Amino acid sequence: MTIEATRPTRPGEWLDDTRIGLSGLRSDPAGLRWKIPTERYTSPQIAVQERELIWKTTWQVVGRADELAKAGDWKTYQLFDQSFIVVRGRDDMIRGFVNACRHRGNLLCAQRSGTSRQFLCQYHLWSYDLEGNCRGILREGHSGVDKSDVPLLSVPVETFGGFIFLNPDPDATPLAEYLGPEVVELLRPYQMERFVTVMDVEEALECNWKVVMDAFQEGYHVWGVHPQLLNVIYPDPEKGRYWFLGDHSVATTPFDVPRGEQFGPEEQVAGIRKLPETFPAVPLMLPRFEELVAEYRGDDGTLVFPEGLTARTLLQQATRDTLTGMGLDVSGLTDNQMTDNQGWVLFPNFFMTIRAGECHITMPTPHPSGDPNKCVWHVASYMYLPDDLAESAKVDPTVVEEPGSHTYFEALQQDYEQMQRQQAGLRNSRLEHETITREELVVANFHRVLDRYLAGARS
Ligand code: FES
Ligand SMILES: [Fe+2]
Repeated sequence: MTIEATRPTRPGEWLDDTRIGLSGLRSDPAGLRWKIPTERYTSPQIAVQERELIWKTTWQVVGRADELAKAGDWKTYQLFDQSFIVVRGRDDMIRGFVNACRHRGNLLCAQRSGTSRQFLCQYHLWSYDLEGNCRGILREGHSGVDKSDVPLLSVPVETFGGFIFLNPDPDATPLAEYLGPEVVELLRPYQMERFVTVMDVEEALECNWKVVMDAFQEGYHVWGVHPQLLNVIYPDPEKGRYWFLGDHSVATTPFDVPRGEQFGPEEQVAGIRKLPETFPAVPLMLPRFEELVAEYRGDDGTLVFPEGLTARTLLQQATRDTLTGMGLDVSGLTDNQMTDNQGWVLFPNFFMTIRAGECHITMPTPHPSGDPNKCVWHVASYMYLPDDLAESAKVDPTVVEEPGSHTYFEALQQDYEQMQRQQAGLRNSRLEHETITREELVVANFHRVLDRYLAGARS
């Protein structure tokens, strides 16, 4: 799909375009998967195909650039039995390497993260600098090895929006090309590179990684799994907006509810007040929101919204006022982007909901054992805060070793439990396929892209 000839001032306006609603999609790609074979969630053979055709060839987020704040900071990334190191060099660049010594292959970094002036292999003490050059060989004069022949094996690494992306394929296309210009342009105004980590958890789950991706790509399960969200997020199929951008997609559901009897002004406002449980930046917006609401309360205490005004539009105004008042730049974002969560899928495993001032990501990776009935999910929330607040809000990553010992916020806990139930059902061999509804269009698209990769087509 091409960008319209006349570019809007704010890229987010593309998503306000009514022509990309469910009933008037500009692009309904051929090959959407309305029936998904259940074996792709359970078959060890398919897991092996995915490893070769998807995971070894695609860009994946391995962390935030601010986790590697200074030269020598490194972390590892595990993909099945493959291990990589990302490290910030003395020149401030972040590089990626295969986590193996060039002598006899010993793992260089056995921990998840650390800080080193160099990488020293503990086996026979060969050493490498932060840029991957071999710097020292024990008794080099007798070794018969030329140091310049044995640098660490490098792996493509780039950053975008503050995220570190790694691609295991040494011949990968550049990240910007992989994402495509529209993805880059739509995400840039959020200033994600300035966001700070306020929640970051990793835990092994008893489900396939695609069960996680599917669950986060549709709002159809809000009624069944998150009924408490219905008075603020009402994923009305007629109001949703979808856009397929190559292998990736963005969809948006307004933070809104049907007007009238079902959710009047008081219920709408109560819904916004409950949002902090799910959306960590909302508490910052609430004081201004309450001020605005008070203007519509009559002498008898009754709240009356004039035509066209809803709790959503007040939250939009409160969000823009608050963030701007904190000295943050949200001028490139539309009013809808002040409230509405836009759900991004960056193939293969990056799902993000983003609104002005905050985003939340869910990234499942296959379980290192290769068992298709398991995965490791990584969930994190980030906020756009002024420097003084950012320092105190920032958290370090948590790894949950004991399954189920961590309590997520309510909506995430509900998903956590639901996904593992789904995997248990999917394992029934009589069930050959899932049946996807039109509302779950993004899931159907995700599996279209997956089909393409499994057929051997690279992006
Ligand atoms: S394997 Fe690393 S120095 Fe021998
Ligand atoms: Fe959910």
